[in-house]
Amino acid sequence: MSNQPFEGRQILVTGAGSGIGRATARRLSSMGAELILIGRRLDKLKETLPKAQSIGLDHSNQSELIKFSKQCGPLDGMFLNAGSYETGNVEKGDPAIFHHMIQQNLAGPWNMAHYLGPHLTEGASVVLTGSNVGIRAVPLQAAYGVAKAGVHMLAQYLAQEWAPRQIRVNAIAPGPVATDMLLDRVKDSLEPEQSLNNLKKVNPLNRIGQAEEIASLVVYLLGSESQWLTGAVIPFDGGAGAVHPG
Ligand SMILES: NC(=O)c1ccc[n+]([C@@H]2O[C@H](COP(=O)([O-])OP(=O)(O)OC[C@H]3O[C@@H](n4cnc5c(N)ncnc54)[C@H](OP(=O)(O)O)[C@@H]3O)[C@@H](O)[C@H]2O)c1
Repeated sequence: MSNQPFEGRQILVTGAGSGIGRATARRLSSMGAELILIGRRLDKLKETLPKAQSIGLDHSNQSELIKFSKQCGPLDGMFLNAGSYETGNVEKGDPAIFHHMIQQNLAGPWNMAHYLGPHLTEGASVVLTGSNVGIRAVPLQAAYGVAKAGVHMLAQYLAQEWAPRQIRVNAIAPGPVATDMLLDRVKDSLEPEQSLNNLKKVNPLNRIGQAEEIASLVVYLLGSESQWLTGAVIPFDGGAGAVHPG
């Protein structure tokens, strides 16, 4: 097999300025893809891949997206990965946090799919980033978790909607991964070392994941080797969802 399997393919990645999005964009680029990088901070996108096309936009902002969609060419794949985290429970949490989490984690990929769907080529592949807390309830994570559960279902509806064009759509549901999102949260906790150990303990492999590991799965899903895989929500969590931590 060619070591440039993505040669000539145009792939859009959101949240490409850090973490999972950055690791995936770099991997795809090394395999020959032409990248369009999306995020709010243009300087971070440039750090990911200085020569790639970088677009500073907020995926939850419809007018920014309409403008971008008018200049966007054909797309052979999208990794709709951008998102953010805030703690929030149902009864005791501030409802504003819930609305913010829905905007940032669910309305974003919905808007991207709505405005950029017409640009997808026949046979394209799309991957959405959900979360393992969108599969099972974890204390204090209701607002984020409900939004991510919506992302999983969005992937399934899109798989159905776009199947006639042979476009595949899958969601990944990572457990804790060592990126800014997680490490900042740990750093701000009362006992950072203890918090990190607690996160490790929820899976039998007893460690947190790395962005590069997640990138491997995304590259597989975007590539031609997964051509009969669509509508799946794939946990990637060191076995946390399968095995009781006790
Ligand atoms: N790390 C984990 O433990 C974990 C676990 C499960 C799922 N996830 C999910 O994985 C995805 C990637 O997160 P990460 O872990 O790689 O953390 P990260 O390093 O914080 O990456 C999130 C990226 O999303 C971008 N972003 C956030 N809001 C955006 C918006 N409104 N419009 C456009 N871009 C936006 C951010 O860039 P700007 O700030 O420049 O916009 C940032 O580059 C997220 O959807 C997250 O919920 C993470």
